[in-house]
Amino acid sequence: MENQKLWGGRFSASAAEILDEFNASLPFDKKLYKQDILGSQTHAKMLAKCGILTQSEAEKICEGLEQVKEEMERGEFEFILSDEDIHMAVEKRLTQIIGEVGKKLHTARSRNDQVALDFRLFVLDSNDNLRVLLLELIDTLLEIAKQHTQTMLPGMTHLQHAQPVNFGFLMCAYVSMFARDFERLESSFRRNNFCPLGAAALAGTPYATDRFFTAQTLGFIAPTLNATDSVSDRDFALDFLYDCSMIAMHISRLAEELVLWSSYEFKFITLSDAYSTGSSIMPQKKNPDVPELLRGKSGRVYGNLLSLLVVMKGLPLAYNKDTQEDKEGVFDSFETLSIALRILKDTLQTMTINTDSMLKACKKGHLSATDLADFLVQTCGIPFREAHHITGKAVAFAESLDKDLSDLSAEELCSVDSAIPQEAHKSLDLEASMNSRNSYGGTSTQATKTQIESLEAWLQLAKKALQDSKEPQNAK
Ligand code: ARG
Repeated sequence: MENQKLWGGRFSASAAEILDEFNASLPFDKKLYKQDILGSQTHAKMLAKCGILTQSEAEKICEGLEQVKEEMERGEFEFILSDEDIHMAVEKRLTQIIGEVGKKLHTARSRNDQVALDFRLFVLDSNDNLRVLLLELIDTLLEIAKQHTQTMLPGMTHLQHAQPVNFGFLMCAYVSMFARDFERLESSFRRNNFCPLGAAALAGTPYATDRFFTAQTLGFIAPTLNATDSVSDRDFALDFLYDCSMIAMHISRLAEELVLWSSYEFKFITLSDAYSTGSSIMPQKKNPDVPELLRGKSGRVYGNLLSLLVVMKGLPLAYNKDTQEDKEGVFDSFETLSIALRILKDTLQTMTINTDSMLKACKKGHLSATDLADFLVQTCGIPFREAHHITGKAVAFAESLDKDLSDLSAEELCSVDSAIPQEAHKSLDLEASMNSRNSYGGTSTQATKTQIESLEAWLQLAKKALQDSKEPQNAK
């Protein structure tokens, strides 16, 4: 029979060509070949340990699988669509290489637990990789923060000038976001670090297998508890896609700042030529394509999360072919973020920070208005509402002179209202304003330095935790 399938025993007609095209996952799940082969080798070892295969049968299988892997790595492996997926492609080639004994590999397992394992290994590995990249980005942000704890710029609310802050302080805000992303991945990893292999089709197996051996050999904490849940669960992928979406959102927010800050209106930063692009028609243009794309990439990453949520929502237990749709979105989110995190780091490392423009911008928008009101409350005992009103008059007066509040002379300020004493003038100083916000987590240079110290201590612990999790007690 043409187009004979590994599962073809009960079929008398061969598969339609269009079925192969529609049904096959091989074009994308071939990416899982390493995980598939590692899972199969471990399974064979387990079967031998339990006396289900002989030692020499298991060795033959493992060696044969090694050869299949090498063929794939050398690009010599012939992927044939009618093989359907990576699991069957590998098994078929294995049997061609080692003969009949290859057909014993699939004892006490099913493609359902096999794909659940392969995909979970991939997701956990990608989780590790993203955490490495996040720490590199955090390192870069902290380096910038350390150099700019005195670099003043207008802090904004509603994108309007609000109060003076330092640039390092803003970098620490982004570090805080990415640190939470790291911890979110870490907790997803822990929650999902269980091995589904051995669950078989949906209900376990009559063979006397040892799932704990398989789980331990592959570096998992333990086997998953319930066989039916093991083959139908894709929460591990959804956790990962949500974690990716949060990272994409944080990247997008920072990217939006980079777009704004690099515009003529702000000029707070200049992006390096190496990370900017030109216009095909306007010779003068230097465009922030990198941050724009970083902002735009969030769309597909959120989309991947939503797709899988929708795929999963109506599925009855246990395995359904719908879940074959779980992979491409995960591959895409992972690849998108891998490059995004790297290019964001490079863009930050190479941009110029225009401290003069930042300072100049502080002279617009009466950033020290809150300080004057606070001074009137704290030193003159004026009720806050009243102080707010008097300060409002001072702002209007400054505007009538086309000046910033911080540029009023003491005499000009006192002329606004008889309740304003001479000493109130010093509250208009922008640097004093910034440094007065010395509360825990505040923007004063000193409070920012304290934040940097805490974040650096966190970074050291995170690096160590990542290192420890990679110790070769596991094969992942
Ligand atoms: N290619 C399938 C997937 O990705 C593998 C599992 C197929 N299992 C089955 N019973 N048809 O989900």
